[in-house]
Amino acid sequence: MSATVYVTRPLPQELLTALAAVCELRLASGEAPLSSRNLPAEVRDCAGIICLLTDQIDADLVAALPQLKFVSSISVGVDHIDVDALTARSIALGHTPGVLVDATADLAFALLLAAARRLGEADRFVRAGQWRADNAWSPDFFLGKDVSGATLGLIGMGAIGQAVARRAAGFGMRVLSWNRTPRAVAGVVAVPLEELLANSDFVSVHVARTQQTLGLLDAARIAQMKKGAVLINTARGGIVDEQALARALDSGDLYAAGLDVYDSEPLSPGSPLLTHPRVVLAPHIGSATAATRRAMVTRALDNALAAVTSRQMPYCANPQVYEGAPPPA
Ligand code: DGY
Repeated sequence: MSATVYVTRPLPQELLTALAAVCELRLASGEAPLSSRNLPAEVRDCAGIICLLTDQIDADLVAALPQLKFVSSISVGVDHIDVDALTARSIALGHTPGVLVDATADLAFALLLAAARRLGEADRFVRAGQWRADNAWSPDFFLGKDVSGATLGLIGMGAIGQAVARRAAGFGMRVLSWNRTPRAVAGVVAVPLEELLANSDFVSVHVARTQQTLGLLDAARIAQMKKGAVLINTARGGIVDEQALARALDSGDLYAAGLDVYDSEPLSPGSPLLTHPRVVLAPHIGSATAATRRAMVTRALDNALAAVTSRQMPYCANPQVYEGAPPPA
């Protein structure tokens, strides 16, 4: 009898053909994200789960699924999954690194430009009919912050951080970086985090959310940022203290922020970030281009196909589950 694989959201049918040939695919009947508090009976006998970053695969959920052999997430980040709980049971976890680097770097730069040049405010101003003949243009009308020639500090120098650095080079920016394990990248000066915060006109976050990075930009570190700086986060919520960020914007210590990710998603209606005019907000769309999302789904399905056919996943987030296993065919 072939394995049953649970798919938490509809995926393009034509991409599913190869996997459907070797296992039974069971599509979630409901819309709610998968979680241990909301565990549908239809997943209990499944050997694999193909999920999104909104599905919460915690230790309780893993414990409730004795048949589970693999999880394949259509995301590069795996902070929605208890990786240790999977690894303890030798359950392989697939993810999708590489294919969303450029799309995410593009969005980080788009937020940087929008925050610097007040595009959100300007758009709202025009739409609200506030742009009139008597205020159509003046020397100090909608002044923003220069990007060209400014200093950009990149927190995290993985593939996305490096891709943002390449974009910054085109704007003649000086680029500083901080990475937990210092990484030499041409044209980028690696510095301690405090030095990066004190000297950067723009700071962009590109680290994964882990126990080590949770709260990395807390109130104390935000207070170390250069006066009038702009903070960009396209990595994960929880890395930046949102309340401290809102206070720094209110006091004028920071000029603006561009955010794609939040402590809780969707952003809570009570968030002070919603009302600050200099915050440009996006709804976690860093990887949201048609080609990128297709590549992510393809990569996740390749991981699932490998698992179903007893091969090692090509993009495995916990490769230690394969230690001692025979090499892939
Ligand atoms: C990921 O894959 O982790 C991204 O956040 C999706 O945009």
